[in-house]
Amino acid sequence: MSQAAVIDGAGFAAGLRGRVADGVATFRNQAGRAPGLAVVLVGEDPASQVYVRSKGKATVEAGMLSFEHRLPADTAQDDLLALVRRLNADPAVDGILVQLPLPKQIDEQAVIETIDPTKDVDGFHPVNAGRLASGLDGFVPCTPLGCLMLLKDRLGDLSGLDAVVIGRSNIVGKPMAALLLRESCTVTIAHSRTRDLPEVVRRADIVVAAVGRPQMVKGDWLKPGATVIDVGINRVPAAEPGKTRLVGDVDFDSALPVAGAITPVPKGVGPMTIAVLLRNTLVSACRREGVDVSPDL
Ligand code: GUN
Repeated sequence: MSQAAVIDGAGFAAGLRGRVADGVATFRNQAGRAPGLAVVLVGEDPASQVYVRSKGKATVEAGMLSFEHRLPADTAQDDLLALVRRLNADPAVDGILVQLPLPKQIDEQAVIETIDPTKDVDGFHPVNAGRLASGLDGFVPCTPLGCLMLLKDRLGDLSGLDAVVIGRSNIVGKPMAALLLRESCTVTIAHSRTRDLPEVVRRADIVVAAVGRPQMVKGDWLKPGATVIDVGINRVPAAEPGKTRLVGDVDFDSALPVAGAITPVPKGVGPMTIAVLLRNTLVSACRREGVDVSPDL
C-alpha cells in the first residue's frame, strides 16, 4: 500500500530561517541597525518559558535584537499595558509579542488591543485580523501562515481545492480559514458543534487540524490522497510508565496509509511558528525603514 509523504516542517523552517538571516544581513547594511523583537512573559508557566527562551535564541541567531521582559505572575494589568506602550514608542522595537496565556487578573484582549498594529508580529490585533479578512496587507498569525507555506510548497496552486479547518480559534482556525479563502479554496470551518465531523473531513483535499484533542482525526475520516496539516501539540502518557510523549490532533499511524502527505508531530508545524515570527519581524522592520530585502519571505 502507498504511504503518505511526511512533510518536513523542521527542514522547511530551517530554510526559512536561513532566508530571514540573509534578509536581516541586507537590512542591517541598508538601515544601519538590526531588527528588534520584544517578547513579554508574565508569570512562570513552564511551557511558555520554553517557548520564550527558544524565540529569544532564534531571534539572536537570525541576527536580530531580542528584548526579553519577564514580569511576575501577580503583575497588575496597568503595569503590563504601560510596558506595551513603552515598547510601542521604542524605535529599536519592530515587533512585540506578549506570550499567551496571561494570568487571570489580566484582560488578554485589552493587552492585544494596546499593541501597535504595525508592531503586532503575532497578528492578533483586531486591526490585523480585519485586514486579513478584508484581503489587505497586515500581519498574519505565525502558525497558520506557516501552515499555508507548507501547503503551497507541497501543492502549488490551491485554487478550487476543498479545505476543512477543524477548530475556530482566533490564533489558528479563523486566520487559517481566511488564508485558504484568499488562495481560492472552498473552505469549511468545523468545530465542537459540527455534526458528523468524519463525513465533513472526508470531503477535504486539505485538512488542517487545530483542536487540541490528541489523535482525534482518524485515518478512515480522510479522503485518499488528502494533504493533512496537524497543528496539535498534545502531551500524553507514553508506553513507558511515568514518561510522556507529544502527539498531534491526527492519529498519525492510521492517517499515514490514507493521506497523500502529512505533517508529523513533533517536527511538523511547530518549528514553522518561530520561523514565521522571525519573518514577520523582519517584514515589520523593512516596512518601518522603507527597505526591501527579499521577494520570497
Ligand atoms: N501562546 C501559544 N502560541 C502563541 C503565539 O503564537 N503567540 C503568543 N503570543 N502566545 C502564544
